[in-house]
Amino acid sequence: MHNNQVHSEDVTENNESRKWWHRRWIVIVGISLIFLIIIAVILSLLLKFVILAPKESEIFNTTAALPSLTTIVSTPSPPATPTSTLPLSTSTSTLPSSSSTTTQTTATLSPLTTTQATSTSTAPSSTTTTQATPPLPSLATSTIANQQPGWLNTGCLNYARQQHTASVLASGKVLVTGGFNGSPLESAELYDLTTGTWTITDSMNHARCDHTASVLTNGKVLVSGGQDSNARLDSAELYNPLTETWINTGSMNNTRSAHAASILTDGKVLVTGGVRIREDLNGAELYDPSSETWTVTDSMKNARFFHTSSTLRNGKVLVTGGSKINIDVRFIALNSVELYDPLTQTWATIASMNHARSSHMASLLTNGKVLVTGGHNISDALNSAELYDPSTETWTPTGSMNHPRQLHTASLLTNGKVLVTGSNRGDSLNSAELYDPLTETWTFIDSMNHARGAHTASVLTNGNVLHTGGVQRNLVLNTTELYFD
Ligand SMILES: *[C@@H]1O[C@H](CO)[C@@H](O)[C@H](O)[C@H]1NC(C)=O
Ligand SMILES: *[C@@H]1O[C@H](CO)[C@@H](O)[C@H](O)[C@H]1NC(C)=O
Ligand SMILES: *[C@@H]1O[C@H](CO)[C@@H](O)[C@H](O)[C@H]1NC(C)=O
Ligand SMILES: *[C@@H]1O[C@H](CO)[C@@H](O)[C@H](O)[C@H]1NC(C)=O
Repeated sequence: MHNNQVHSEDVTENNESRKWWHRRWIVIVGISLIFLIIIAVILSLLLKFVILAPKESEIFNTTAALPSLTTIVSTPSPPATPTSTLPLSTSTSTLPSSSSTTTQTTATLSPLTTTQATSTSTAPSSTTTTQATPPLPSLATSTIANQQPGWLNTGCLNYARQQHTASVLASGKVLVTGGFNGSPLESAELYDLTTGTWTITDSMNHARCDHTASVLTNGKVLVSGGQDSNARLDSAELYNPLTETWINTGSMNNTRSAHAASILTDGKVLVTGGVRIREDLNGAELYDPSSETWTVTDSMKNARFFHTSSTLRNGKVLVTGGSKINIDVRFIALNSVELYDPLTQTWATIASMNHARSSHMASLLTNGKVLVTGGHNISDALNSAELYDPSTETWTPTGSMNHPRQLHTASLLTNGKVLVTGSNRGDSLNSAELYDPLTETWTFIDSMNHARGAHTASVLTNGNVLHTGGVQRNLVLNTTELYFD
């Protein structure tokens, strides 16, 4: 056998050759070790830089996942829910989903963290100036007086909410009521601008969203209608800021939600339109704070919901646009406009807007004109804006916003400009822009820290504007932030 032959040859080797082989073995083992080490080093380098390296597509996808304005603008949303029987909101994004993106929720939520918009990298105006974090949770204007105009996160709501209301009380505190987060909410909370915190106050007797809230001349807050989990509501409640409690205060003749309310010059509250199940309303009712009762007044010429209502300087109430349910139970947007005269208690149809719009905003300017912004015409959100002149009772276009917006906010600032923020169409926007009535132009300003739509904005007694809650994609928000200039 071959093995036996080798074995016998080895055995017959003499001592000299054994020593020689022994040295050879040491050399061979040494060289092999060096080879092994070199191969190991090469393998580890390969592993690190080739096999475990992130793929280019992965890097791209990570950044693409961040909400960017360009993505938002270039991917228009599906149309609003024209066939929905419950127009909770005109977007489909009313239910929070577990797959909600967390890209924005990582922002610090504590009061006074000055994390400037984390997702504004694509916003044209995002010259982010890093601000020093003030040492104490005091929102006194002095701490931010010498800073650039911008946004400041403030305390979180105790309950995330959209389609809620926010009212500035005589004390300067802000009362937030109801809204929607999976179901309508009955909770209410108060914002204290001296501490930047939210505290829970007495809950309403009914859960409500798409309701109205009006600060009466006696300081109480009237909440009317809206809807709870089961039905549209005809009930109304009064919040007394002194006792911080709610009481029921009569009932409207009609159940209604997505209606509008305006305080008249005599202190009464005019409530108009709205929607019930498969029925839009043209009815209007007056609440008298002195008797705490409701009476029916003249009906509008057109049924409408998600419209606007503004009390003009001449005391008349301007009602614009809104949605209507068509004969085939689809929604259409309206361009029609009506004026209510409290003296004769009658409605008159006046010149229509240039564009039909619903879920838009109306702002009474310091010059007495009314600025109407955005909204949607069922198929698209709108960027157009128009001005109503009460002296001529006519409408003229006044520039266009840089973004189409619906269920956004519009706030008259103390300098006379109008701050417009967010939208809930498709993907909520974090962008903000300012309208200057003197030049009739729109300019981008720094974006909000959080994209939001169906949120609220309240001009505080110190001039800052408090933005609360709303919805970002499917995520209902508990964040709030202040605009200061
Ligand atoms: C990146 O995104 C594209 C499009 O959404 C997807 O088809 C692809 O699988 C993603 N790639 C990775 C690595 O996640
Ligand atoms: C109250 O509403 C009903 C419809 O729900 C209507 O028929 C009735 O005329 C209204 N009452 C008044 C005084 O307008
Ligand atoms: C809705 O608005 C969009 C954008 O302004 C416009 O292109 C479209 O024609 C409008 N549709 C209707 C039905 O008015
Ligand atoms: C706000 O909501 C987020 C989830 O979106 C939650 O993680 C956080 O704890 C909430 N903050 C407060 C103060 O409730």
